[in-house]
Amino acid sequence: MEATVHLDTRQRIGPIDRRIFGGFIEHMGRAVYEGIYDPGSPFSDERGFRTDVMSAITAMNMPLMRYPGGNFVSGYDWRDGVGPRAQRPVRADSAWQSLESNHFGTDEFVAWCRAVDTAPVLAVNLGTGSIESAAALVEYCNLPPGTYWTDRRASNASEEPYGVGTWCLGNEMDGPWQAGHVPARVYAEKALAAGSLMKQLDDSIELIVCGSSSRNMGTYMEWDRTVLEHCWDSVDYISAHRYTAAKPDTPSYLAEGVVIDQILADYRGLISYVRALKASSRSVQVSFDEWNVWRRNYDMKGGWSFAPHLLEEEYTFEDALVIAQYLNSFIRNCDIVKIACFAQVVNILGPIKTSREGVLREATYWPFVMLSGATSGESLRVALDCPELETSGRGPVPVIDASASYDAEADRVTLCLVHRSIGHEIAVDVQLGDLRTSGVEVEILHDRDLEARNTWQRPGRVTPVPGRAKLVSPSAIRVDLAPPSMTLLKLDVSSLDR
Ligand code: AHR
Repeated sequence: MEATVHLDTRQRIGPIDRRIFGGFIEHMGRAVYEGIYDPGSPFSDERGFRTDVMSAITAMNMPLMRYPGGNFVSGYDWRDGVGPRAQRPVRADSAWQSLESNHFGTDEFVAWCRAVDTAPVLAVNLGTGSIESAAALVEYCNLPPGTYWTDRRASNASEEPYGVGTWCLGNEMDGPWQAGHVPARVYAEKALAAGSLMKQLDDSIELIVCGSSSRNMGTYMEWDRTVLEHCWDSVDYISAHRYTAAKPDTPSYLAEGVVIDQILADYRGLISYVRALKASSRSVQVSFDEWNVWRRNYDMKGGWSFAPHLLEEEYTFEDALVIAQYLNSFIRNCDIVKIACFAQVVNILGPIKTSREGVLREATYWPFVMLSGATSGESLRVALDCPELETSGRGPVPVIDASASYDAEADRVTLCLVHRSIGHEIAVDVQLGDLRTSGVEVEILHDRDLEARNTWQRPGRVTPVPGRAKLVSPSAIRVDLAPPSMTLLKLDVSSLDR
C-alpha cells in the first residue's frame, strides 16, 4: 500500500492550545487515595503525595488538571475538605457508594498541582450544591485575605490566593444518574446565576458550562442548544465528554478519530448557530473535559468502603491507537477545542496504575506522552491521499489518521500518523511543500498483537521505540508504517525561500 501526505505552512488551521493535553482526577475508586495521595507509602513525600506518580504525570506535560469530579462533585461539599484533618467529616459519596474521608481537599489539590506543574481547574457542585457555596469556593481560592473564607485559606494553607483561572459549572448535569439532575432550562438558569456570582467575585475567571455527557444521550445537542442559548454571554466553553466503548469489530473500533471529528463538527455547527441567533461578536469554544477508552462494564459501586478498587481498566495496544486518534482530532480541530482532559489520570481509567511496589504505565500512557511532548505552535492541514478501510460501523474511512503541527519559532514540524489497518504496511511519501528538512527523528508505537499490554511482570511490552525515515529530497521523506501503528515524525525544518 502507498500513501502521500502533503504539508504546507500556508495551510494553517490555527494555534494549538496546549490545554488540550489536560488531565482529570476525581474522588473515585483509588484515583485520589492510593493514587496521588498515599501517606502510608514509602514512595510518598511528607505531604503524602506519591512521588513516583508525580514523576509519571510530570512526564505527560499536562498544563491543567480538572478536579474533584465527575459525578462525585454533584454531591460534594468542598467545605468538608478544608481545615484540620482531624475535624474533617467522613461522608457517604452517593455517586460511587464509597466513603469519603475528606483527607484530601482543595488545599491539598492545589499544592499537588504546583508540585506537578499543572494548573488546577475546579468543578463546582451544581447538583446538590447552592450558588452560594460555588461562589464561596471562588472567594476561598482567588481573593486576597481579609474575608471569612480567605482568612480560612490563609490559616489552613496559603496567604497567597490560588488564582484558579478555569471553573466547571457542575458536571454532566444532563445525566439522570447525576445528583440533582434537572431539565436543561433549569440547569441553564442555575449555571447562569452561579457563574454570574462567581464572576462578580473574580471577573478574570473562565467558565465551562455542561454540554451533553455523551452523543448517545437522547437530548444530545438539544440540551446543548438550550444551555448555550441561555448562558451564551456569560460562559467561555461548553463541555463535551466521550468514553469509547468496545466495538464488535476491530476496524470500527480503530476508526474512532472519525467519531471525534463528527462530535466536534456537531459542536462547531451548534456554536455557529447560537452565535448567529444572538448576532454575537463573541464566541464559545469546546472543553472536551472527559475523554478516554472505557471498554468494559464494571460494578461501579464501592460497597461503602474507602478507596474501593473501581474499574481498574487494563489497556491494550489497540486502545493506545484510539488515544492517539483523540489527540489527532483535537489538534485538527484546534480552532474550536481549547481544553481537553484525559479521564482519568491515575487508577480507575488511568494510564498510570499504582501498587505498593510502584507505578505501571499502561499502553495508553505512551501516545499521550509522545504527542504532548512534541506538539506546539500551529496545526497544519494534512492533505492525505491514502487507501480506505471498510468498517461495518463507520463505512469507508481513510486507513491513516493524521495530525501535524508547525512551530515556527522552534523550526519544527511534528507529524503523527496512525495506521489503523491490521493488514498491510504502508509506504508514505511526506511532501513538505514550502519547507525543507535537515533531519527527522521517528518514534513508533507498534505491536503485532492488538491485545498486547503492559503488566507488572512485563511493564515495557508496549512502549515507543525509535524508527527510521528516508530523506528522499530536501522537501520529501519516505516512511513505512507498520500495520497497525502510531508513528511520530519530528522534523527540523526551514523555509524553502530562506
Ligand atoms: O470518569 C468517570 C465518570 O464518567 C465521571 O465521574 C463522569 O463525569 C462520567 O460519566
